[in-house]
Amino acid sequence: MITKLGVLTSGGDAPGMNAAIRAVVRAANFYKVESWGINRGYEGMIEGDMSKLGTRSVGNIIQRGGTILKCARSDSFRTKEGRSQAIAHLRKNKIDGLVAIGGDGTFRGLHAFTQESGIPAVGIPGTIDNDIAGTDYTIGYDTATNTAVEAIDRIRDTALSHNRLFFIEVMGRHSGYIAINSAIAGGAVAVIIPEAETTFDELFQLLEQTGKANKKSSLVVVAEGAKLPAMELARLVAEKSSYFDIKVTILGHLQRGGSPTYFDRVLASQMGLAAVEGLLKGKKDCMVGTSGGKIVYNQFEAIMKGQSHGIDPEALRLAKILSA
Ligand code: F6P
Repeated sequence: MITKLGVLTSGGDAPGMNAAIRAVVRAANFYKVESWGINRGYEGMIEGDMSKLGTRSVGNIIQRGGTILKCARSDSFRTKEGRSQAIAHLRKNKIDGLVAIGGDGTFRGLHAFTQESGIPAVGIPGTIDNDIAGTDYTIGYDTATNTAVEAIDRIRDTALSHNRLFFIEVMGRHSGYIAINSAIAGGAVAVIIPEAETTFDELFQLLEQTGKANKKSSLVVVAEGAKLPAMELARLVAEKSSYFDIKVTILGHLQRGGSPTYFDRVLASQMGLAAVEGLLKGKKDCMVGTSGGKIVYNQFEAIMKGQSHGIDPEALRLAKILSA
């Protein structure tokens, strides 16, 4: 029987994390469980930086980007000593259940924590990268991709006006998810992702063809995890030909901010409720996810061993056919 729940956000922030915090606190309140917000992820847990949250403390945050609990990547939580300190603070405050919202690093820490403490813990996937096994979508991915598409549309206006070739680098760490889908939606001529490396020669050939086909401007979307980053690709193309007027835009952290889309708000709300209901039904050491639109729970061990869902080859085929 859980009576007091801790909630934290960890890793990189993602739009929709606030909606998830709100859902956890309000769902807990519905079941008469007290909620405590832990600040700055595992760092705050180690320092005992936590306070009670009521339903009013999470009012007016569903539409806000970032996270009211703040985020951190904690090196100390990777050590047993750090986790012991964190466990002691939770015990002192009588917190007997934990919900952590974050990415794979967050879940590795949560798995070790729950094994060592016996305190049941459930994870909610929150990262713009959409790179977690055991869920079709992570909170923040949809918003970040929409932000990237909006930026690509804007770049297209200026690219067209000056007959330029743009390399646009998007985030995603080792995943090409944001890249492939923003490239399709933004009408890019090519997309370079870590999961299906295009060689420089292949890319150059494609760009030459666009020149011959009298295409005046082109956009190439590059995932930050690709073997050759956008800057390097631009340098290599410029070295080989003076035909192109080349510019590079690195979208960077602007993809992490902003108001979450309806999709991320709904996903965060569903996952927040599912995390609380899961804990109350005895689930632990697992992550909430969605599969085909339905809520699922996967044990951390399986998630950590499992491959994150790769890029659908059909998406790559689509991008290629439509770019000509
Ligand atoms: O994991 C989310 C993410 O935004 C990645 O896409 C990116 O590689 C990384 O975090 C950037 O991390 P930081 O904000 O710590 O520089």
